[in-house]
Amino acid sequence: MTLLSVVGARPNFMKLAPVVRAAARRPGVRHLIVHTGQHYDADMSDSFFADLGIPQPDHNLGVGSGSHAVQTALIMQRFEPVCLGAAPDMVLVYGDVNSTVAAALVSAKLGFKVAHVEAGLRSRDWSMPEEINRVVTDRLADLLFAPSRDGVDNLLAEGIPAERLHLVGNIMIDTLVALLPRARQVAAAARLGVDGAPYAFVTLHRPNNVDAPETLRELLDTLGTLSATLPVVFPVHPRTRARIRDMGWEAPRGARFLLLDPVPYLESLSLVGQAALVITDSGGLQEETTYLGVPCLTVRPSTERPITCTEGTNRLVKAERGAILAAAAEALADRRREARAIERWDGRAAERILEVLLGEASYRVS
Ligand code: UD1
Repeated sequence: MTLLSVVGARPNFMKLAPVVRAAARRPGVRHLIVHTGQHYDADMSDSFFADLGIPQPDHNLGVGSGSHAVQTALIMQRFEPVCLGAAPDMVLVYGDVNSTVAAALVSAKLGFKVAHVEAGLRSRDWSMPEEINRVVTDRLADLLFAPSRDGVDNLLAEGIPAERLHLVGNIMIDTLVALLPRARQVAAAARLGVDGAPYAFVTLHRPNNVDAPETLRELLDTLGTLSATLPVVFPVHPRTRARIRDMGWEAPRGARFLLLDPVPYLESLSLVGQAALVITDSGGLQEETTYLGVPCLTVRPSTERPITCTEGTNRLVKAERGAILAAAAEALADRRREARAIERWDGRAAERILEVLLGEASYRVS
């Protein structure tokens, strides 16, 4: 059996790694990897392949950055001959980025079967490009691997036949479980001089938060206020870095406000695990903090991962100074830190995916 995985952006790489390992344990499976090149910086891509033990991709499409149309079109154009040449039994696509929907479209039109890892998540916010990517990818997929029961419910409500759906669990948690012992040894907080006392770990990169200068300024000034009492560790996404540079914003003097380049996976996990609070607009961090029991403020009006709010440590907060400072104080006072177990967030999602692909088991939800 030939499997072909297509990845392109940073959050895809954590989802690919467990599939690489599970496929390698099956002698009859040949697993090819295509990197679209949507993310290309060493610290957005290469460091993740190294930390996660993913082999060099069999193909790199080198598409780089561009408008949504340009990026999606270039991936489609360059992936088509690769897909035809590989003639895979199944194309695996991950998450909700432009690489995901572009590869799914090409594969479906060529008549190759598509499996979507992390299917069924919905924010119901059509202004997010990721929501469009999720809905279209799920509509094209022959096999849909959902991380949680709400994902299955969303897909059934959209009329996707139940026999295509499998509740395999959360593949991000596979990677977290596998690498947590190594992440603890990294001791990143000590290296940054913020260990031994509470600190906040921050990431922000969504266009809604960083593209409008007045919103970004309010967020940065709010973090500046917070940093007077709680050191802030903020690895900055390239999109955000460019906007901060354009604005000429500088961290308040004397405050413990560390603006870093994007950090590798192990360092990120090490910092999140030790944090008193995470403030983010990332999808993956909402899940990781829930698993680790670390309070999380998600600066967004909606989430496609509601289970992290209902079962986990996540709360949604407006991109406003008062709302963020109040929610931060509340989250810090709330001492509940033990991780609550979520169904099938147990480190075995990739194993279940391989079992389904090879016809050994089924995780349909009745
Ligand atoms: C993409 C995903 C988003 C995901 C995020 C994680 C889509 C629609 N969005 O958004 O869901 O949460 O990745 O990072 O696919 N850039 C670099 N170097 C890089 C990559 C990007 O400098 O290696 C800069 C470029 O200026 C680029 C900008 O970042 O224009 C945005 O990159 P892009 O891949 O278009 O989208 P992300 O914002 O990263």
